[in-house]
Amino acid sequence: MSDIAIDLGTANTLIHVKGKGLVFNEATAIAFDENTNAVISFGNIAAEMVGRTPPSIRVVRPLSTGVVSDFAAARMYLQLAIRQVVRYNRWSPLRVVIGVPSRISGAEFKTFQDALDSTKISKIWAVQEPVAAAIGSGLDFGLPKGCLVIDIGAGTTDLAMLSLGRVVQSRSLRVGAEALTAAFTNYLKNERRINVGDKTAEEFLHAHGQAKLISRATGKINAVDMKTGLPVQSDITAAEVHGAIKEPVSLIVGELRRLLDSVPPDLAADILNEGIHLTGGGSLLKGLPDLLKEQTGLQCNHVEDPLKAVVEGCGVILDDLDAYKFVLESMPDEIRSSSI
Ligand SMILES: Nc1ncnc2c1ncn2[C@@H]1O[C@H](COP(=O)(O)OP(=O)(O)OP(=O)(O)O)[C@@H](O)[C@H]1O
Ligand SMILES: [Mg+2]
Repeated sequence: MSDIAIDLGTANTLIHVKGKGLVFNEATAIAFDENTNAVISFGNIAAEMVGRTPPSIRVVRPLSTGVVSDFAAARMYLQLAIRQVVRYNRWSPLRVVIGVPSRISGAEFKTFQDALDSTKISKIWAVQEPVAAAIGSGLDFGLPKGCLVIDIGAGTTDLAMLSLGRVVQSRSLRVGAEALTAAFTNYLKNERRINVGDKTAEEFLHAHGQAKLISRATGKINAVDMKTGLPVQSDITAAEVHGAIKEPVSLIVGELRRLLDSVPPDLAADILNEGIHLTGGGSLLKGLPDLLKEQTGLQCNHVEDPLKAVVEGCGVILDDLDAYKFVLESMPDEIRSSSI
């Protein structure tokens, strides 16, 4: 019997194999030949092709806003990824712990289950991603004490108040780092009259995006002038980037305020000492901890490894299923395994 832990994310997929650790960390993308439908590549190589393919190649990103949006592509991607890292078959089936968004519906979870090729999988346990991130980061959330985790991924933001090993209150937003990229490319199109590819815009945001204006440095971006149709290099100021992503960032801040407002006062007060734990790639946006502190008065710190916390937490659970039985049993009914 092989056991694996998976974080199947909108942008990145990570797999941990029991006894081996993290063995797969690739983009969630798969490229098909348009004519034959054969798989050309998957993972980082396929993601590199986005925006640069000839008409005969189609690159699919099987997840959108944290859930499966192209079932066939998700299934194919998972089969290829899992087969690359572990041997399994009917006689030696897989057991899987998978991270899922905290407010996923039963129907959405079913698509994850189906995509995992249920015939050769003997068991699937789902764990809400903020819970997995807390476990993976060694946060002490088993005590009767509030622990607030915000996971800002590519497609979703998951906010959860944990206590006694369970989610007390959670909120989620179908807004993540990709919404920031979209807001930035729209700004460039509408205000600067230049077109920029998603990958270029994303890389520019990693280097120059700021949730709170701290530095005033200017950056250069390669684009296409919409008037002339010619490639140009444009200077973009820090204030412009900041302004362009302000709206999606404010949605995240608003959701945090709503969560704090809805939890029992004693739990909210615990956060005064502990602070807020940030995880997920989108939380790496510069100035985000400062902005959240300014808006809530609470300390905000990144967990040790924001891009790996969820899979590491799923891996910790997998390595000691008995110790974490109480966590698996406390999952909402929609995603709870029927026989733990
Ligand atoms: N320094 C940075 N600033 C802003 N965004 C960043 C930075 N580094 C990474 N990101 C963004 O983080 C995202 C990837 O994060 P992560 O792997 O946590 O997402 P995911 O788990 O695939 O998505 P989701 O959880 O929403 O399904 C990408 O969209 C990437 O652009
Ligand atoms: Mg994620």
